[in-house]
Order: sequence, then C-alpha cells, then structure tokens
Amino acid sequence: MPDIAASPTLLIDTPAPSVALLTLNRPEALNALNREMTQQLAQTLETLANDDHVRVVILTGAGRAFAAGGDISEMVDLKPEMGNADDFIATWEAVARFKKPIIAAINGYALGGGCEIAMMCDCVIASETAVFGQPEAQIGVIPGAGGTQRLTRAVGKALAMDMILTGRRLSAPEALQAGLVSRVVAPEHLLIEAIKMAEAIAQARPEIQALNKAMVNLAMEKKLHKGIIAEREAFYGLFGGEAQQSGMRGFLDRKK
Ligand code: CAA
Repeated sequence: MPDIAASPTLLIDTPAPSVALLTLNRPEALNALNREMTQQLAQTLETLANDDHVRVVILTGAGRAFAAGGDISEMVDLKPEMGNADDFIATWEAVARFKKPIIAAINGYALGGGCEIAMMCDCVIASETAVFGQPEAQIGVIPGAGGTQRLTRAVGKALAMDMILTGRRLSAPEALQAGLVSRVVAPEHLLIEAIKMAEAIAQARPEIQALNKAMVNLAMEKKLHKGIIAEREAFYGLFGGEAQQSGMRGFLDRKK
C-alpha cells in the first residue's frame, strides 16, 4: 500500500492483497461530498493509480449513507461564474478517470452526487438498505456530476426521467432490476461481497482488465463528454437564482 496518511474524511484500508478499500467518512453529514473529502479522494486515487500492488479499488461510505450528495452548505452561495473559474466537480471526476477497476459498494443513501459518483465506478453493488436518487430538483438545481447523462445510459430514458423529474428514489431491488447495480446483498455481507468481487477481478492480468474497462467505457462514451459539459454549464448557471437559493436555503434551514 502507498504511504498515504488516512484523512478523517477518507479512510484507506487494505482488506486483501491487491485491493484498496476507501471509505467516505463524514457519517454525521451522511458523507456529503465536500471539497476536503473529494480532494482527498482524487489524490488517493492518483497515488493508487501508480501503485502496482493495488489492482482493484472499492469505494464505500461510513454509517447510513454512501453519500447524500454534494455538500449543500458548500454550494448554497455559489455563483455561475464560480463554476467556470472553480469547477469543484472536476475533482470528483478522478473516479471516472481512474484506470484500474473500481467497485462502488453502496451501503445506504446514494443521492445526487452520491449516485453520480457510484455511476462513475465500474461495478456497483448494493446492500439491501441502499437508496438511489437524483433529488436535485427538490433543492432548485439539476444534477451536475453526470447524473442526467449516466443515469439515462444506465436505466433508460423513462426511469431516468421519472427519477430526475419527480425525485423518485429506487430501493436496492429496484436498482438491481433497473440495471443500476449488479448485485444486492445483506448489509453485513456488503464488504465481503465487494472484496470477493475485487479478488475475482484481480485474478486476471491488470493490463487485460484495464483494456476490458476501457472498452466497456467506450461503449458508454459516445457523446457522453458533450452531454456532461452541457449539464455542467446548466448546473452552474442556476446558482444565485431564485430556485437554487430558496431550494438550498430551504434544506439548510429546515430544522430552524
Ligand atoms: N449536504 C450537506 N449536508 C447534508 C446533506 C447534503 N447533501 N445531506 C445530509 N446532510 C446532513 C444534514 O444537514 C444533517 O446534518 P445536521 O444533523 O447537522 O443537520 C445530517 O446530514 C443528517 O441528515 P438529515 O437529518 O437530513 O437525515 P434524514 O435521515 O432526516 O434524511 C436524507 C436523510 C433524505 C438523505 C436527507 O438528508 C436529504 O434529503 N439530504 C439531501 C439530499 C440531496 O438533496 N442531495 C443532492 C445534493 S445536490 C448535488 O449533489 C448536486 C450535484 O449533483 C453536484
């Protein structure tokens, strides 16, 4: 394993030879993706990319969420021009850019950016307690990290529209049926299953698996990049407007 100091917002472990386990670790905020956590995640993946001992990465969350989305308290005062000058979501894309196989092990809520990060991973497996959704419309924005593009590719237009327009959440069995995840297991078996999957992947030569991954992603890629750019512009363009302000402030103030 590389010499990476474990940060409080990201735990790093080696549950089996060749396998790195990364745990999003802000359980008190349902692992809302803040800058500190996502920068740590990106840096860690960069290090792991160059570590020949690591062939497969598992990404999971501590507590009752994988991640409940981008950190709304960090986004609430964003302005459109900040999106262009300081594209914080670009950091998240380290997950999509990672060249080795990466498994998302979804332990609970995977909402908004949490669902989007899961979809950037190669394999998604879920505990029976997992919940998937793109609830951005309810807080006055749209998905900004590929949700409109990758969800549509993963589950098809009808269900993607249903989820994105109505805020419908999918249970783990529904996500399995829709093809958003490939396995559902009991919560206590989630990491065991993820490690088993990682070990199976690690059986084959890394250069073969890298090629397998690149080719499958190529099948998904057609025009994806253009869609991602258009979505990002639309997402940042909403900040400072009435819908985003009342939506996000409404969430942050809801307990007052
Ligand atoms: N950002 C910041 N904090 C969040 C958060 C988020 N996305 N989601 C949850 N939290 C915090 C809550 O504020 C709360 O903190 P406090 O105890 O300090 O108030 C803590 O996590 C626990 O959350 P709740 O009390 O709300 O827990 P709950 O069980 O009642 O509800 C939930 C769980 C349904 C997931 C609810 O927390 C929720 O709706 N969260 C927001 C989901 C969301 O809108 N995600 C999309 C974010 S925008 C995005 O991701 C944009 C993008 O594409 C880049």
